[in-house]
Amino acid sequence: METIMNTESIGTEEYVARSAGTEAAMRVRELSVSYDNKETLHKITTEFPKHCITSIIGPSGCGKTTMLLSLNDLIREIQGVKVEGEILLGDKRTDAIPQEELRRRVGLVFQTPMPFPFSVYKNLTYAPRYYGNHNKKDLDRIVKEKLALVGLYDEIKTDLNKSALKFSGGQQQRICIARALTVEPDILLLDEPCSALDVRSISVIEETLLRLKSQYTIIIVTHNIAQARRLSDKVIFLKDGRLIEEGDAAGLFREPKEAETREFLRGIYG
Ligand SMILES: Nc1ncnc2c1ncn2[C@@H]1O[C@H](COP(=O)(O)OP(=O)(O)O)[C@@H](O)[C@H]1O
Ligand SMILES: [Mg+2]
Repeated sequence: METIMNTESIGTEEYVARSAGTEAAMRVRELSVSYDNKETLHKITTEFPKHCITSIIGPSGCGKTTMLLSLNDLIREIQGVKVEGEILLGDKRTDAIPQEELRRRVGLVFQTPMPFPFSVYKNLTYAPRYYGNHNKKDLDRIVKEKLALVGLYDEIKTDLNKSALKFSGGQQQRICIARALTVEPDILLLDEPCSALDVRSISVIEETLLRLKSQYTIIIVTHNIAQARRLSDKVIFLKDGRLIEEGDAAGLFREPKEAETREFLRGIYG
């Protein structure tokens, strides 16, 4: 990770060379995805460095959500979908990992906060119980620990039995992030997690993600370029289902190599 953090102004090729020594939490090779024979992702090859935040950016409809859904194989739940290429979690192909294990190790947080319609405590103990943990002390510890990780424990510790739906949007999203962490994933996928939130909540979520990256590998889709700049170690720019450019965030935003990246970033900034 150090290599990436310290490479202030390098371009994509150099970045790829330098980051070759950085361990990847996940790797994607020649990933293509079609819906009903319409190709949506075309031969994407990339990797997600461990304990880094990687942002996936690109115009609406370019395949960002499709990419995230491919990483934990939720994509196969969609009818008429065809997936080619390979995705590796560590050194294992994801299609060789039992689906339940894969979903546990690669957690997903959606755009709209979606807590279950019951108490915060039950939201956070739902998955651990599902996996067979019924020890009250253990469950209490998990609830406290994960809420603390998202900076919520002190804020809501007296309200753990209140319905999760009664909290603000930003708090609900943090409850969902905490819930995703209760199964000890390696990787956290977030699909535009801030798009429904106010400025104050966005900055709290960003602080949370920056804190979490020491323990987890984070992959975030965002349409907010300023956010990608603030958060990312690595950036991947997709357009029309193709990976146009990737690299360390500082370098890519300062000096995008590809005309299409420049055009996209210019369009965003107006
Ligand atoms: N379930 C689906 N069935 C058919 N087409 C889909 C489905 N989901 C997404 N698509 C199409 O795939 C393309 C990429 O979608 P998506 O991955 O959601 O893009 P993004 O998240 O970048 O906006 C779009 O053209 C979209 O209409
Ligand atoms: Mg999307």
